[in-house]
Amino acid sequence: MATIQIRTHVPGPKSQELMRRRAAAVARGVFHATPIFAARAEGAMLEDVDGNRYIDFAGGIGVLNVGHRSPRVVAAIREQLDAFLHTCFSVAPYEKYIALAEKLNSLTPGDFPKKTLLVNSGAEAIENAVKFARSYTKRPAVICFEDAFHGRTLLAMSLTSKTHPYKAGFEPFASDVYRIPYAYCYRCSYSMQYPSCNVFCAHHLEDAFKRVVAAESVAAVVVEPVLGEGGFVAPPREFFTVLQEICRRHNILLIADEVQSGFCRTGAMFASERYGLVPDILVTAKSIADGLPLSAVIGRAEIMDAPGIGGVGGTFGGNPLSCVAALAAIETMERENLSARAETLGRRFEARAHEWQGRWPLVGDVRGLGAMRALELVRDPGTREPAKDETERITRYCYEHGLILLSTGSYGNVLRVLVPLVITDEQFEEGLDIFEAALASVAESHVGAAPGRA
Ligand SMILES: Cc1ncc(COP(=O)(O)O)c(C=O)c1O
Repeated sequence: MATIQIRTHVPGPKSQELMRRRAAAVARGVFHATPIFAARAEGAMLEDVDGNRYIDFAGGIGVLNVGHRSPRVVAAIREQLDAFLHTCFSVAPYEKYIALAEKLNSLTPGDFPKKTLLVNSGAEAIENAVKFARSYTKRPAVICFEDAFHGRTLLAMSLTSKTHPYKAGFEPFASDVYRIPYAYCYRCSYSMQYPSCNVFCAHHLEDAFKRVVAAESVAAVVVEPVLGEGGFVAPPREFFTVLQEICRRHNILLIADEVQSGFCRTGAMFASERYGLVPDILVTAKSIADGLPLSAVIGRAEIMDAPGIGGVGGTFGGNPLSCVAALAAIETMERENLSARAETLGRRFEARAHEWQGRWPLVGDVRGLGAMRALELVRDPGTREPAKDETERITRYCYEHGLILLSTGSYGNVLRVLVPLVITDEQFEEGLDIFEAALASVAESHVGAAPGRA
């Protein structure tokens, strides 16, 4: 598919008509980041129903690390279509589920026997990870973090931090969930500074055992190695070293939520590897199967064998189409060394983003890991007042000019890059040029704009 082409005012007439039908027929609570409707997509490009073409920096929210319609994935799905679509792994199992479990057991960090459960979504995988931890430890409590996002089902929502739109009005939440601050250094909950803080937030876990919940009641700590919906915060390495050490000392399981950070996004197959983190259970989803619904819980074999037969699973979990798609997607990541590609793309973004930060005070923070990169926008670099409206204006400018870019963050003021890692250099640079023009159009009309900040 050729690069950008904007033929109509965005959204075009066909997208507008579909938006009217959507408003009448689809539940209002399903968010939409753009007003355009997809017609086809390939690699890092997406075409809408009006024939407008966009560079896709969203990848279906981090699902398309190997690109839209990755050729190996499409071929594997076609082959499976001619064999069977569904038997249910609990009724007449099939080899591809086992092959994928073996692959995931070998890819995840930790030199010990592992086992895997396949389910359908990130939230379902998180729910199951906590079930495994409670079943194994025979303890009830779970510790999670401020700014965490773990999904929208009852327990996953209870573990999620942001109130609007994820929690407000959906009370009551699941019990035995406790929350402590994350290493969000730009907005430190203790107003400290790294490195002189000596990662106080991680050490604070010990304090929580005295003041919030007893360590012997805690089954697991659930943590994202890089915050996803919370704003692409990549903590200092010691944060995880300390957390891991405290968990081990108290026989508490460490669950890494790699739903968004997995599958080469951060410059390694899993972000845990970047931190020397060896979780007892790793949860992943999104880019696992190039867009087919699938998620996985991978953990120490003895933990994964704790629940009784029939205690975990489901009708659709590990659907054969999803399994073959995942095996083909992982083969592509390995053959094309997409971890190295992620690191290259991340460095290019970082270099451009630091220039933008030097030019516009609106760009408060530049951060991330590998190709999981973001800018946090503020009205004033001194007060760090979140620039939410400006962020929305920038994402709108982008889709009107041929780039799909998502915002995120607890304050809705973070712009994040989740570009397919197979994007060409030309497409990536073109995307960054639009990103820059969007920032310029908003930053230069912005009250706090000051030229030439060093
Ligand atoms: C870190 C993390 N965990 C869990 C989820 C929930 O995944 P799903 O939307 O597939 O339920 C998400 C989704 O964005 C996520 O980013």
